[in-house]
Amino acid sequence: MEYIEVTGGQVLSGCIRPAAAKNSVLPLLAATLLCGKPCTLLAVPRLRDVDTSLALLKAVGADAKREGENILTRPTASVTGTVPPELAGAMRGSVFYLAPLLTRAGRAELALPGGCRLGPRPIDIHLAGLTAMGAQAELRQDRVILRCHGVLRGTEFALRLPSVGATLTLMMAACCAAGTTVLRGAACEPEIADTAAFLNACGARIAGAGTSTLRIRGTGGDLLGGCCHTVLPDRIAASTYAAATAIAGGRVTVEGCPPRYLAAFLDFLGAAGCSVVRGSGRFTVSRCPARPLKGGQDLVASAYPGLATDAAPLAAAVLLGADGPSRIYDGLFQNRFACAAGFAALGAGAQAEGRLLRLAGGAELHGGTVTAPDLRGGAALVLAGLGAKGTVRVADAGHIRRGYAHLAQDLAGLGAQCRSLTEDASEE
Ligand code: EPZ
Repeated sequence: MEYIEVTGGQVLSGCIRPAAAKNSVLPLLAATLLCGKPCTLLAVPRLRDVDTSLALLKAVGADAKREGENILTRPTASVTGTVPPELAGAMRGSVFYLAPLLTRAGRAELALPGGCRLGPRPIDIHLAGLTAMGAQAELRQDRVILRCHGVLRGTEFALRLPSVGATLTLMMAACCAAGTTVLRGAACEPEIADTAAFLNACGARIAGAGTSTLRIRGTGGDLLGGCCHTVLPDRIAASTYAAATAIAGGRVTVEGCPPRYLAAFLDFLGAAGCSVVRGSGRFTVSRCPARPLKGGQDLVASAYPGLATDAAPLAAAVLLGADGPSRIYDGLFQNRFACAAGFAALGAGAQAEGRLLRLAGGAELHGGTVTAPDLRGGAALVLAGLGAKGTVRVADAGHIRRGYAHLAQDLAGLGAQCRSLTEDASEE
């Protein structure tokens, strides 16, 4: 068991640079299967989901390894279309392998990413789009099997909702298909534009990534080339450092991350009473610890450029001690606010009613042991500890390591009293 322990009361200061975005790195690693030449992804953080991806690539016959901070991939003559179930079930990101395996092996067999804690996460849009491109999909109780005789063919496809994963799947599938694919109603998240930039640098012809309509001219079955790619910064990690400053007070500059990637979150912090100064590729958040944050916020998490669903629990942590009640509604996931139980155990008025989280505000949080229910909910509980009188221990911190390589060390570097521990309570 891993824990993160945080004792509130320290004001934060300094500069921090978020690592490369997990939600770009995962599709990028899958996309390297489409490449017939070596690829390098620079400065990839040591996250649990990245390790799972490397194991998955190896299991299907690809050649991908770490070299220092970077990941290098080399093309292999053939790959197998079957993903070992224990790897498929270990992360939602395994779904990114459907299109590359179908392209490379003519077959993709994947255990369905298990009952996720955020609520049901179907893959019907991925399958409908791939079927429209000529694949046959067989959905069994525990897995999906896709087959394709010959090359996938370009098509016009409208996504029934702007799914990030399905947009990535269909964009990857279209790169080596025959003819042109037009995707309408696509997701616009920056991680999609980043994956498209990588694929285009490898020779793909994708236009419109980052907007709701993508046009992709396929290679007709040829693999792409290779490239060296700098992954975009993690906007959710950047939001986490900004939220930490709002809760603890102080002044922190987040570098290497354009503020437009988290504009809605920074707007929220401004409305809650923080000072936010936006620069080119950086921003500074500050708050006087003596002045309470403003409650009365009514937030809705939605697709980009709205408030990111992954940042909704972080916003909740900010509002726990605000001077009035607030509400946050998550339009994407049914069970986004499982962290409410942990907030309540620390003394906050926090109640999740399905997609809606009600926060009473005005909380004086005390110490205690709480459990990370998921990645962002776990990070939110650590953030709540920054504002607590006493020591908060967040158990099951392995969830947090799926998305933050060193959250405790990052916060400690800004002045927080925070550390990570393993089961026997030895410091890592
Ligand atoms: C990605 O998940 C991210 N994961 C999530 O980050 C993020 O919360 C989410 O996008 C939204 O921004 C990765 O990139 C690995 P979706 P994804 O498909 O692609 C429904 C984190 O903490 N839907 O945009 O799975 C779905 O159920 C993680 O870093 C269908 O109904 O998200 C959900 O309600 C958690 N059918 C909504 O769409 C489908 O075929 C949005 O899901 C696909 C999705």
